Amino acid sequence: MRSLQKKVKVDRFPLYQGLEWDRKIRNPDNPNFWKYNIANLIFLDYIGDKKLVLDLGCGTGGASLFLAKHGEARWIVGMDLVGDMIKVAKKNAIDKGLDQRTSLLVCDGRHLPFKTSCFEALISRGDSFCFLVPLKRTAQELRRVLKSKGIIVLEMDNRVDWKPGTIISASFQKTPDGRIAYRIEVFTTKRNHSATSYVLDPNGKIAKSVKNDPEFRGKGYCSLKYPLQQIEEETLEIREGAPTHWPTARELFTLFKKSGFTKVQVIGDGLLMKLLIGGDELIIKAMKRDPRVFFEIEKRLVTYINPDKAPTIILRAIKP
Ligand SMILES: C[S@@+](CC[C@H](N)C(=O)[O-])C[C@H]1O[C@@H](n2cnc3c(N)ncnc32)[C@H](O)[C@@H]1O
Repeated sequence: MRSLQKKVKVDRFPLYQGLEWDRKIRNPDNPNFWKYNIANLIFLDYIGDKKLVLDLGCGTGGASLFLAKHGEARWIVGMDLVGDMIKVAKKNAIDKGLDQRTSLLVCDGRHLPFKTSCFEALISRGDSFCFLVPLKRTAQELRRVLKSKGIIVLEMDNRVDWKPGTIISASFQKTPDGRIAYRIEVFTTKRNHSATSYVLDPNGKIAKSVKNDPEFRGKGYCSLKYPLQQIEEETLEIREGAPTHWPTARELFTLFKKSGFTKVQVIGDGLLMKLLIGGDELIIKAMKRDPRVFFEIEKRLVTYINPDKAPTIILRAIKP
């Protein structure tokens, strides 16, 4: 076996690729399509008539552009650490004719390049907040850029099924530099999420069979099964993913309360989605026929769902 110890690198950036991500979140076969569209409606309701909005970790601009189109904001700023996500976000803004009301930029959500007290609302969809470790310092940075009476609304997975060592996913994937890696995502004892990518020798047996796999060719990832030991033998390098932390509903509540926010609330979401998507084909067909009906119903349910048990949690707080 090769000596892998020396070949471990820590990724500075999260492994997102703009076009691939954008395709995923527009696809009704992907759960993110459902939960992100509901989050958009929740943001729209909560930020109301706020005029200057920041979307943290905006990715390809899904929530920013939705709010620019449907909301009352005069200006939406979307930011993300990954340049490739912003590149696609900018193209989406131009395609939708919304580039005059949006600014999309690359920066780190933990050190925002904005003056103190400038935004009236701050939103974040799809777990971006969980990347902004340490969360305590980030909560203070977010408070800094918000104006007094400004609102913050964050949406993230609840990971209620968390147990240390739980394997969240394991699949072969394309790396941003076009290589093939086996990526395992696991929860650590501190509720951090660690992702390890075994970058394969392109001339090895495994990389060759993955490359020819129809699922991999179509989606850029696949779930072929190989023993880890065999994968290690064909590994050229190991990459540790950017660190993340997944707070519980209670932890999130306490964090924002202690960071000086008021009217802190954590609500649950995604229960209906989970039930329906786990249901039979007929239900899924009906959802796909008219997703908007589903989004509206789910949005109305959020105040009735126990956040400790919900698949998704939403934090809402105000800067005094
Ligand atoms: C799961 S994606 C969600 C993207 C987007 N909010 C959406 O709803 O489509 C998480 C995003 O967080 C971004 N991200 C991770 N760490 C970040 C950081 N330190 N600063 C800003 N963005 C970050 C990633 O690049 C990625 O685009």
